[in-house]
Amino acid sequence: MKGLILSGGKGSRLYPLTYTRAKQLVPVANKPVLFRVIETLRDAGITEIGIVIGHTGPEIREAVGQGAQFGVQITYIEQNAPLGLAHAVKVAREFLDDERFVMFLGDNVIEGGIGKLIADFERERYNAQVVLTPVEEPQHYGVAELSDGPERRIVRLIEKPRNPPSNLALVGIYMFDANIHKAVEAIKPSWRGELEITDAIQWLVENKYEVHPYVHRGWWIDTGKPIDMLAANAKVLEELQPKIEGYVDRDSVVDERVTVQEDAEIINSVVRGPAIIGRNTRLINAYVGPFTSIDHHCVIENSEIEHSIVLEHSSIVDIPHRIADSLIGRNVEITRSDFRPKALKMTLGDNSKVGVL
Ligand code: DAU
Repeated sequence: MKGLILSGGKGSRLYPLTYTRAKQLVPVANKPVLFRVIETLRDAGITEIGIVIGHTGPEIREAVGQGAQFGVQITYIEQNAPLGLAHAVKVAREFLDDERFVMFLGDNVIEGGIGKLIADFERERYNAQVVLTPVEEPQHYGVAELSDGPERRIVRLIEKPRNPPSNLALVGIYMFDANIHKAVEAIKPSWRGELEITDAIQWLVENKYEVHPYVHRGWWIDTGKPIDMLAANAKVLEELQPKIEGYVDRDSVVDERVTVQEDAEIINSVVRGPAIIGRNTRLINAYVGPFTSIDHHCVIENSEIEHSIVLEHSSIVDIPHRIADSLIGRNVEITRSDFRPKALKMTLGDNSKVGVL
């Protein structure tokens, strides 16, 4: 079975964390979401992976390479314009050949992996399998209507319906056999001008192919949605296997559920888990609270922070009040200044938000 990861897309931006990066490269618990997707496929035994890329392609190629770092083999597939998820399947036709494959949206993270899903799909020889999960605002997703009774079957699939027939959303994970290629050729663009994979699957249902609905009960995060990155970060941190690879001095207290990555230094500090401290990051006289990811090459000195995300190469030094519930981008400096006039001095990017005490 092959894997197809979709990492093209509109380039709509993930506020306020980043303006410059592909959204699939935004880190959750210090690892880009796309890397998590590749590892999820690999852990399910899939090593031949195609990645569909759009205008952020060069950045994705640079970060992922040929896949050796993950133990997989990557083929890049260029999509000239984001014309829809079914269009992405069309452009990947040559790579996919007639094999069965799993398609995974590059900005999704799912609890517990997909090993069981793949095994079920292979054993039962369904023509397609979709993953569904209950959500609060189904109108923002593809939605499934299932029949009643113990053998629940798909009655209808509909993309972003105004009046959703159920609260079961299509999670961005799909499994197909070669019949999907007939379906993507048969459908027409939707009202939003995209070739919708939801319509292609609906075509399979109407033409009596077996499409199996799998209802997922754990958490699932679409990090490409206007966000709760902090919630996503907290969920992934809770699943992390803690590991201390950096240096922790004798005066520091580091909880059990804390990961300290290579060459990090923790000096006279307290770290409450779950938390992760990135490579080459230094904590000096600091408190880093639970549910916090401090990325690589950062400095937290004489400061306290909790329930937050700090991205690469940022520093927080001599801040007298605890920072909480914050998203701090790359190369950010937060320091105390004694220079006159005594004032708050800020250089903030578009759509930033600051709460001052
Ligand atoms: O997240 C789940 C939802 O994903 C499903 O419930 C919907 O049925 C499905 O259509 C999709 O909806 P979105 O509106 O969230 O899709 P989005 O445009 O954000 O694209 C999802 C990913 O696929 C994203 O990583 C970008 C990539 N993509 C998207 C398009 C439209 C491509 O690679 N090529 C494309 O043409």
